[in-house]
Parts: sequence; structure tokens; C-alpha cells
Amino acid sequence: MNKKMHSAHKGFDARLEKHYDELKWLYYELYGEDPEAFAYFCDMLRRADAQRSGSLKKWDEKRLQDEGWYKRNDLLGMVMYVDCFAGSLKGVMDHLDYIRECNVNYLHLMPILKSPEGRSDGGYAVSDFAEVDPRFGSMDDLRLLAERCHEAGIAVCLDFVMNHTSENHEWAVKARQGDREAQERYFFFDDWTIPREFEKTVPQVFPQTAPGNFSWCAEAGKVVMTTFYPYQWDLNYHNPTVLNDMTANMLNLCNNGVDIIRLDAVPYIWKTLGSTCRNLPEVHTLVRIMRMASEIVCPSVLLLGEVVMEPKEVVPYFGTLEKPECHMLYNVTTMASIWHTVATRDVRLLKHQLGTVFALPGEYTFLNYLRCHDDIGWGLDYEYLKQFGVREAEHKKYLNDYLKGAWPGSGARGELYNDDPRLKDARLCGTTASLCGIEAAEYEGDAEKLRWAVALDEMLHVLLFTMSGVPVLYSGDEIGQLNDYTYHEDRNKREDSRYLHRGAFSWKDASKRKDRKSRQGQIYQSLQEMERIRRETAVFESDADTWIIETFNDRVLGIGRFRQGQKLIALFNFGDAPETAWIEEEGDYKDLHSGKRMPAFHVPLQSHGYVWLLQE
Ligand code: GLC
Repeated sequence: MNKKMHSAHKGFDARLEKHYDELKWLYYELYGEDPEAFAYFCDMLRRADAQRSGSLKKWDEKRLQDEGWYKRNDLLGMVMYVDCFAGSLKGVMDHLDYIRECNVNYLHLMPILKSPEGRSDGGYAVSDFAEVDPRFGSMDDLRLLAERCHEAGIAVCLDFVMNHTSENHEWAVKARQGDREAQERYFFFDDWTIPREFEKTVPQVFPQTAPGNFSWCAEAGKVVMTTFYPYQWDLNYHNPTVLNDMTANMLNLCNNGVDIIRLDAVPYIWKTLGSTCRNLPEVHTLVRIMRMASEIVCPSVLLLGEVVMEPKEVVPYFGTLEKPECHMLYNVTTMASIWHTVATRDVRLLKHQLGTVFALPGEYTFLNYLRCHDDIGWGLDYEYLKQFGVREAEHKKYLNDYLKGAWPGSGARGELYNDDPRLKDARLCGTTASLCGIEAAEYEGDAEKLRWAVALDEMLHVLLFTMSGVPVLYSGDEIGQLNDYTYHEDRNKREDSRYLHRGAFSWKDASKRKDRKSRQGQIYQSLQEMERIRRETAVFESDADTWIIETFNDRVLGIGRFRQGQKLIALFNFGDAPETAWIEEEGDYKDLHSGKRMPAFHVPLQSHGYVWLLQE
């Protein structure tokens, strides 16, 4: 063994040793004392380490010298469908210059692994975790793209769909043919007795598009658990083989250059009868094991948890300082609260929500976003809203009515998602621009309305940039891309209204991005400007103190940031008319956007106006 190899290997051994006792303890906690299974797990880690390339190991070392890299104010994310953006992985490679031009250094590619067309849930039903779907390219393409991204300073994020496999995954195929060992990787039942018991306590994810949590598998003559779509078979993590093999699958993605692993639908991965099968304590044990596995094999990799749950369920996925779980989590309640504020013009809930987030330990890193590939679910703090006489079911109906443009005066253009009249719990789809009213204003040729809608779109992005954490743009939002109605004609998509905001990226629209007179150019240029200010002003670093500033005006949101002598006051007017932020803050301030000096005293704001006032 040459010296270099020896030192890399030592790194692995040292990291394994550091975590060994805890790993073994947790593994035994889940699976009982099973030295053979645990030894297999450790060998699997060693094999993964042996497969990690020298250049990725160097990348690990580089990242480890700068562990806080993902908390910097220069980080900007973008999430995209490879096919919508540029057809294939090679296409993305060809357009890396555009991605760089957007200041993006964190690129989340939506699922690209092998998945049966028409029964894929947008790639979330994986039939081979080690192969890229030929529609997008190959594993070699992914590796090459990751290399190019790294050269350009871009981190790559990929989904790891760990709750289920496609019904066409080789394990599922074998299970269908009656293979016992394969069936034990899933939840199979001889009849509906136990599934019916489960249904008493387990809520439904897709009550309209895929009701129930189980499906009949005719080939096996058995019932199989399918929390999401019937073709997405839930993996049984009660079986250590599943954890062993799935961890190997995750590490293999990391060894192909992926920097950030999005743990898809992670709250669902452990099931017990009589529970909701969500956020069970064992889920946290599993995530902690995955965290240690990645720290041992590929220490620069980050875990992003997809926990679309109420705040008290989200925060535990950070783990503790000594035993961390995810590096990053979605700021989901803030996202939903922002759209509530758009529809009500009342900032009180958002103030309350942000106040809660600001009070959390500064080490917690949130991924902030306005829109992603999924619907907006109305998981708001109804306990808080109750004091204003707001009732949950009525309120959800109002928000949906407003955002689909069915409310007088609303220019929003969304569509409902999983509207189940029994549950009165419909969610909502649509792009940021269409929800802000841009689509309707352009359709009506109403210049005044368009100005107002574009201003709203810009203001929401500036709010995103004001928060600590990683802002992630949804591809197309940088040019105000509108809804795509063509999915209604596609038989593989028409049942799923999330495709409304998953349209092909419009390169024609993008070509207008330098033209300030166009909607595309105006949004693009404003974002560019605010992104530049954000990364050049240290007060936007994630370790700043943040607080809510009382504006004595329920239409105006005020946020304060303070870091090393720099103080920022950010104000946002959600109202339809000019408003005043009745603040009386001492000192001299400069509006970072216009460069003008002004006092932070009774600040006037246009409808959808915002300011970033900096005191130095
Ligand atoms: C996650 C994804 C969603 C998908 C589901 C099932 O919630 O974001 O798009 O439908 O998992 O995999």
C-alpha cells in the first residue's frame, strides 16, 4: 500500500472508530443483537470507501476545512427537472453557463434514476438506484456533470427516494413472483385484516389520486403497503437487509459525485401498527445511522431532510449538537405562511411563524423556498389563527379560492391538488409568477396589474433572501415562468396537477432576461441585483441575529438582522395600497437597493414595496 492510499484509508478507519460504538448501539436497538448483520453493514461501508475516487476524497478534505460552506450568504440554490430544463444531463452540462449566470452554486436535479414511464411519480418510483434513466443519460453523464459542477464551484443535490421502490425494482419483481426473501423487504399481507387495522390510524398522502395505504398485488395474491401511489412499494426497514442495501445505494450516489442527499419522504420510513406511521422514534435512529454512514464514507456530503410536517415534527430532524441528523431541512411552514399572507394581506401569522424560526438555535440551517415541485399544503398554525376567529376548513377554502383566482379581485392562477371533499383539505399548485397574478395580468393586457404582480413576485424573492439559510429558486422563477396547462392533455400526467408548475423551461423567455422592459428581464435583473447585495453584505451570513421588527401595521412585515456591528432592517408591504412602517429606529441608514441614505423612521412603502436598510 503506498503512503497516500494508506492515509486515505486511515481517514476511513478513524472515522469508523469515532462512530463505531454509537452505530452498533443504534443498529442493535433496531435489529436486536445481530453481529452478522452489523458486520455486513460495516463491510459495506468499507467497500463504499474503497470505491470513492481519489478526487472525491480530496473534495471531502477541501470541504472539511470549510465546514460552514453551506451557511454562507453567497450560497444560492436552484431546483430543476433535467428534461424540462435541457432535455438530458448532457443538456444541463451545456447550459452550466446559464446556471452560473444565475449565481447558482447549489443545483438540485429532480429524480433522474431509472423509473418506469407513466408509473414513476415524476421519478419518485425508482426501479434501479444504480442507473440513470436512459431518458436523461447515464451514470457516466452524472459523474461528469458533477465534476464540471465542482470545477465551477457548484454543489449537486439529488433525491434519495428511500421510503419505497418502484413495483419494477428487481426486489419487487422477485416479490411478485413469490420470492419470500424479496417479499420480506416490503410489507406483504395475506389478506386485508392487518391492512384494515393500519388504515384506522394512518392518514392518506394522496386521498384523491391514490386513496388508501395498501394495494392488491394480483401476481403475488397478497396485499402490499403503498403509502404513496400503488406502484410505489414501501420498503420494510424492520429488515436489516433493507437498511444495509439502501445505505449502500445512497453511498453509491455520493460516490458518483452527489454532494447533497435529499432524503425523500423521510418521516414515513418506519411503520408500526396502531400509529400514524409518521415521525416514529425509529425514523430518527435510521436517519442518525445514515448520517454516520455518510460521515464515515463521504464526510463532505450533506443530508437534506424532506420533512413536510408541522414545525414541532420538523425540528427534531436536526438531531442534537452531539448527535446531528440532517444538515438542512425545508422551511415548509414559512413557505405556506408566505402564501397565506399573499392571500390575506395580513402579516400577523407570518410574524408569528418567523418569530418561532428566529428563536431556534443558529446552527439549524433551513432551506428557504417559495415554490418547489410539489403542491402547497396548508399546514398553518391554526391554534394561533384561532384568536382572530379563523377556522381551519373555511380558511383553507379561502386560501385555495383566492389562489386559484376564484375570489373577487384575485389575479392568482392556481389549481387544486388532491381535493377530497370529505377531508376539506385540498392543496394548491401553480408557479410563483402565476400565483402572484402575472399570468392573468398578461392575458388581460393590463399594464398596471402586471406592474403590481411583478412587484409582488420580486418582493417575495427579496423576503426569501432576507432569511438566514439557503435560498433555493425553482427553475424558471428567475424569469417569472407561468403555469403549463399542457399536462391536461398528457394521459400520464393529467391526474396530477403538480405538473401545472413542472413545465418545460422556456428558453425563449430566458432570452429576454437582459431586457428590463420585459417581465422576464425585470424579474431576472431585480433578482440579480438583490443576490449580489446579499452575497456582498456580511449581515446576510447565517450566523446573524434575527428578529421581528414591530411596524404597527398589519400589512407590513419587518425583519431585523444584526451581525458584527452591522444592522439591517428589512420591510415588506403586502398590502394593496401604500403603507407606512411605523418604526422609529435610531441611527443613519442606507437603502441597499437604491443606495439612498434615509432614516429608519415612519418608512413609507409602495404596495408590494420593500427596503433593505443598512446601518453600519
Ligand atoms: C416526496 C416528493 C413527492 C413525491 C413523494 C413520494 O414528497 O417530494 O414529489 O410524490 O415524495 O415519493
